[in-house]
Amino acid sequence: MKHYRFASSLFYGAIAGIYDLLDVVLFRVPARNPRMGLVRALRPEIRSVIDLCVGTGASSIAIAKADEARCVVGVDLSAKMLGIASHKAEKADARNIELYRMDATATTFPPASFEAVTTSRSLHEFPPDLRDRIMREARRLVANHGRLYIIEWERPTRGLARFIFGIFPLLFEPRGFREFLSLDWEAFLRRYGFELERDESYTFSRLLIARAVEGQGE
Ligand SMILES: C[S@@+](CC[C@H](N)C(=O)[O-])C[C@H]1O[C@@H](n2cnc3c(N)ncnc32)[C@H](O)[C@@H]1O
Repeated sequence: MKHYRFASSLFYGAIAGIYDLLDVVLFRVPARNPRMGLVRALRPEIRSVIDLCVGTGASSIAIAKADEARCVVGVDLSAKMLGIASHKAEKADARNIELYRMDATATTFPPASFEAVTTSRSLHEFPPDLRDRIMREARRLVANHGRLYIIEWERPTRGLARFIFGIFPLLFEPRGFREFLSLDWEAFLRRYGFELERDESYTFSRLLIARAVEGQGE
C-alpha cells in the first residue's frame, strides 16, 4: 500500500504537465465527452460533491462551473496534479472548489458529508484491495439516497476504435486492466451499497450513475 502510494505520486508527478493532453485528444466532441455527460447527469438538487482522485480537476472544475452554488471538494495524493487543478480552477474563476492532498481511501471528512461522490478514470488503476477501500470510503462519505458517478474506460464495440483500444492498455494501463473492462458493474456496486441506475457510453468511456442504498455498505 505504502509502495503503491509512493509509486503513484512519483508517476503522476512526472506526467502531470502533459496529463490533460489525453482529454484534448480523446474528448473533442462535447456530446461524446464523459465529463460533459457527468455535468448533465448531476441532479440539480445536489449541492455538495466530492471528487476522489481529482487529478488535474477536469471533472471537478466542469461540475463547479456548471452551478456556482454547488460546493465541490477534490482530493488527490499527487501534489503536482493538485497544483495544476488549482491553477486551472483559478483561471476558470471557479471559487466553489476546494482541493486537498489526501488519500482517497481514508479521507478526514465525517460520514455522509456529501450528497454525491464522483471518481473518474481512477478505479481501473488500483489493485483490488485499494479499489475496495476507495469504494468503501465513497459509500461512507455519501449520504443515504445520494449518488455516485463513475467515469471509466470502456472498450468500443466496433471498428478502428476497438482495435486502437486493444493496443492502448498494453502500453499504459496496469495488469488486470482487461479483466477490469469486463467487470459486472451492477454486482460490483451492489457490494458497496450502491444500486446502478444508469450506464451511459461516451468516447472510450462509460458514465455509471448509482444510488446509495440506505442500510447497505455504510
Ligand atoms: C488517471 S488519474 C485520474 C485523474 C482525474 N480523476 C481524471 O479524471 O482525469 C488518477 C489519479 O488518482 C490519484 N491517486 C492515486 N491513488 C490515490 C489515492 N490513494 N488517493 C488519492 N488520489 C490517488 C493520482 O494521483 C491521479 O491524479
